[in-house]
Amino acid sequence: MSDKGLRDVIAAQTSISDIDGTAGRLWYVGYEIEDLARNASFEEIIYLLHNLELPTRAELEDLSRFLVREREPHPFLARMMPTLAQNTSPMSMLRTSVSASSAFDPDGWDESPEAEYRKAMRLIAEAPTLIATFDRVRTGREVIPPDPGLSHAANFLWMLHGQEPDPEDAGVLDTTFILYADHTMNASTFTARIIASTLSDTFSAMTGAIGALKGPLHGGANEEAQKMAEEVGKPENAEAYVRDRLARKEKIFGFGHAVYKTMDPRATVLKQLCRELGERRKQPKWYEIFSAIEETTFEQKGLYPNVDLYAAGVYHMLGIPTDLMTPIFALARMVGWTAHVREQYADNRIIRPGSEYIGPRDRTYVPLDER
Ligand SMILES: CC(C)(COP(=O)(O)OP(=O)(O)OC[C@H]1O[C@@H](n2cnc3c(N)ncnc32)[C@H](O)[C@@H]1OP(=O)(O)O)[C@@H](O)C(=O)NCCC(=O)NCCS
Repeated sequence: MSDKGLRDVIAAQTSISDIDGTAGRLWYVGYEIEDLARNASFEEIIYLLHNLELPTRAELEDLSRFLVREREPHPFLARMMPTLAQNTSPMSMLRTSVSASSAFDPDGWDESPEAEYRKAMRLIAEAPTLIATFDRVRTGREVIPPDPGLSHAANFLWMLHGQEPDPEDAGVLDTTFILYADHTMNASTFTARIIASTLSDTFSAMTGAIGALKGPLHGGANEEAQKMAEEVGKPENAEAYVRDRLARKEKIFGFGHAVYKTMDPRATVLKQLCRELGERRKQPKWYEIFSAIEETTFEQKGLYPNVDLYAAGVYHMLGIPTDLMTPIFALARMVGWTAHVREQYADNRIIRPGSEYIGPRDRTYVPLDER
């Protein structure tokens, strides 16, 4: 019997993250996600997921210096950007740029664990610059170079908007990065591990992972959730909108999960961030629309929100264009992907599941003229 969607298959052992889908809990290396979201910085999470320990102050400073130094992608990628900005979506740009960066990484084809770690950190460092540059170029604005004095999250807002970021906004974005950083054997991480399991390179694994994340059933859901909220327009319209969609057997984006059977703990944090940001910005509308959608979707279908629902509202209020929401998910998940790839390399066996054959059997070849 096949297990469609591989729900009951344990595809790998991991020390990186764990989920209890019934209780709605998520841990990174044994730390509960709410604890990390409340107290840690994204840079600490990068260190934690890759080294399986929280950094000391000196280790964190070392890592932060490395990340800051590697923020500028190779000039070839900057030259490619105007063409990509005219012809592709931001996710396709990211996929193509990450693939192309394999040509320029100073560690080249060195596959030692140390080189793999540096390659991972470079990809993590560059991704925000690629996304912000793409947006500046496609809107005809000057490209803003990274600011070495700013954190990963604050620097992204700076490069995107060209204005000194509000520290509270940067803190909110940092928390969303933490929440998106890893999530056990989701489709894109599994893709990355499959590619790594053939002993192919990190860049190929990341290129495949970005491709898997792009779809609306996975990372693309935050963009779809925002479009949905815009279509709904005001909280009073939510009930009819959800009922209509469900009657047409259409998905409500930002709801349901392959593993959680209750509220996604990341959604709980994001719901609060969305409400607080809305109050601070005097834009309560988005929280009200999303929570009205949540109420009806639960009543009608018993579905809970996942990470992507309220993330969309948060990003929208931070002035992030809708089609950059999935690339932002990617820049944060790059941490988990690269950590999983290094874990796969460290204890590898090629991933090769079976299939259940359901086609015809025992046929005999019929010559072309007799068919
Ligand atoms: C995440 C997702 C792909 C998981 O899929 P899955 O594991 O196949 O989902 P389940 O087996 O729990 O689905 C059970 C039922 O609920 C329905 N369902 C699940 N999520 C739904 C949603 N968001 N909207 C409407 N119906 C949904 C399924 O169609 C299925 O209905 P059926 O029994 O009538 O066929 C799915 O919930 C989904 O498509 N969600 C919307 C996209 C999204 O937000 N993705 C981001 C995930 S983090």
